[in-house]
Amino acid sequence: NKDITNPDDWEVKEKIDEAQKSINNNAANAIKLFDDILQQFPSSPRSLYGKAQALDALADQKRSNELLQKALDLYLEVLNDKKTTNTLFKVVAERAIKRLRFIGQYRKAISVQNALIEKFPDISEYSNELAVTYLTVNRIPEARVILQKVLSKWPNDGFALVHYGFILKTVDDNLVDGIQFLQKGIQTNHKGVIDGRFFFHLGDALTRVGKNDEALKLYEHGVKHGVFLSKYQRSLYNVPRLSGKPWWNKNETPYDQLFKELESNWKEIKREGLNILNQKGYFQDESEKLRDKGDWKQFELYARGQKNVENCKKCPITCGIIDSNPSARGCKRGQTKFSVMHPGTHVWPHCGPTNCRLRAHLGLEVPSNTYIRVAEETRSWENGKVLIFDDSFEHEVWHNGSQFRLVLIVDVWHPELTAQEIKGLSPI
Ligand code: LMR
Ligand code: MN
Repeated sequence: NKDITNPDDWEVKEKIDEAQKSINNNAANAIKLFDDILQQFPSSPRSLYGKAQALDALADQKRSNELLQKALDLYLEVLNDKKTTNTLFKVVAERAIKRLRFIGQYRKAISVQNALIEKFPDISEYSNELAVTYLTVNRIPEARVILQKVLSKWPNDGFALVHYGFILKTVDDNLVDGIQFLQKGIQTNHKGVIDGRFFFHLGDALTRVGKNDEALKLYEHGVKHGVFLSKYQRSLYNVPRLSGKPWWNKNETPYDQLFKELESNWKEIKREGLNILNQKGYFQDESEKLRDKGDWKQFELYARGQKNVENCKKCPITCGIIDSNPSARGCKRGQTKFSVMHPGTHVWPHCGPTNCRLRAHLGLEVPSNTYIRVAEETRSWENGKVLIFDDSFEHEVWHNGSQFRLVLIVDVWHPELTAQEIKGLSPI
């Protein structure tokens, strides 16, 4: 406490310490105590800080943004106070940044972060965290410049290395340099570098430059660190207790009814899909940069648990089936979509984002020489039949045939999720 207490605070230090103690068990009372002190000593930074902390705690308990805003105003007041000690400045700024990010006030967070960096230019963490804020709001150029600065001053800073490598790989498609930076960063073992996202993209980059063995080793290393469920199952938004396996049979799920309905109506579904395909401009290019080569497009009917009403008007039979099945219609961690793939397409090995769904493909137009590998087993589609797999497992697709392949993709909840769990899951 010594370092955060300035000369003005010392006369009331005992009272402050007393009030401080009640923040955790009685935040409302702590606010009163701090108000009393502030009546007498309006410019005591520690009392302002204490009151802000109490408001912050109360905001948390009551989930009140209004209280949080009050707390933040006080934090900022402390930061603007010349009498605030350096140590108190750090503590308050760090907390304010965290809370400003939490309620999405990124501009203010950025200005506090800049103040912090100006005051403590030798602490790389403050610059790194500013880069993270910029990345969060997709201001890539600013993030890039900051990370470059950090690395010119501290070339072995693991946190900056992995984040810079992440930008090189995901934004610039610069696989070779991305690999260098991600690898070097992960090897430091610094705080923040053992993170699924960095392992995920490093492995992906290694695969795409043909270093499959290195990718596999990295994935095994990731499993040891707990960032992946298994070397093949590398989704990052998981419910860990769910069982996982690459391929599923219809009768291993409670969705028999849905799958039967899809299969018995496959010709109507196909007609609806072909009808849209024949009108140019409705199918959209696959947008996640998963393609090595070729032409692969999709027409989305449901996503994140939301029905695309306009698109569904174009295929009433298909959407009627989905609508009557809560597990598909309500699968807010998945989609329902038509997927058309043209000859000469290769989709890089990749993993879906979550282990909370299973993915069914209803074969509609299936030429020969089209394949999908999930983990270690390669299969193909059949007209009018569903193929069910867990797309959190690594999968790869080839179209070496001579005419387009059309399937309907339907995501459903993983059968082991409870209704209660599903309620709490964020959409993906
Ligand atoms: C995938 O889900 O990644 C692919 O299997 C989709 C497709 O159209 O084959
Ligand atoms: Mn996929």
